[in-house]
Amino acid sequence: MIKNNYLETRMIEFKDLGDERGSLVVCEGEQDIPFEPKRVFYIFGSDATVVRGQHANRDSEFVLINVAGKSKVKVMDGMGNEMVFSLNRPNTGIYIPKMVWKEMYDFSADSVLLCLASTHYDGNEYIRDYDEYVKEIKENH
Ligand code: TYD
Repeated sequence: MIKNNYLETRMIEFKDLGDERGSLVVCEGEQDIPFEPKRVFYIFGSDATVVRGQHANRDSEFVLINVAGKSKVKVMDGMGNEMVFSLNRPNTGIYIPKMVWKEMYDFSADSVLLCLASTHYDGNEYIRDYDEYVKEIKENH
């Protein structure tokens, strides 16, 4: 049974350990974020015309941080609810649990979106079709 974890989606404010030399932000697994990251990737060179993501993950959790620039993240639960988060500071991130539909858009030209994932990449755990996502959500309720 796959739980709908949509309501656990949330912003995370990271501590800035900086001093007069500049900022330093730490995302330590199972301390600052709810999982141990196994994979890191980052997205840049997108712009305001692009929509990325448009998928849900059966097994992966993510934390997304705009380490530079800005973007927006829309999350949906497949049952009619949605939330939009603005990522616009390098010391805030969004935690996205498993089985939450996500779309990233409205990228500023200087956006660098850092993504921490709880799993190694497995294309089979991605649901890229929204109707299929809704079907799986309904099956599990
Ligand atoms: P995709 O999931 O479409 O990116 P986004 O979520 O930003 O829209 O990924 C683009 C391509 O990169 C796709 O062919 C799958 C591949 N990919 C990997 O091989 N490993 C990864 O960890 C990720 C995130 C993507």
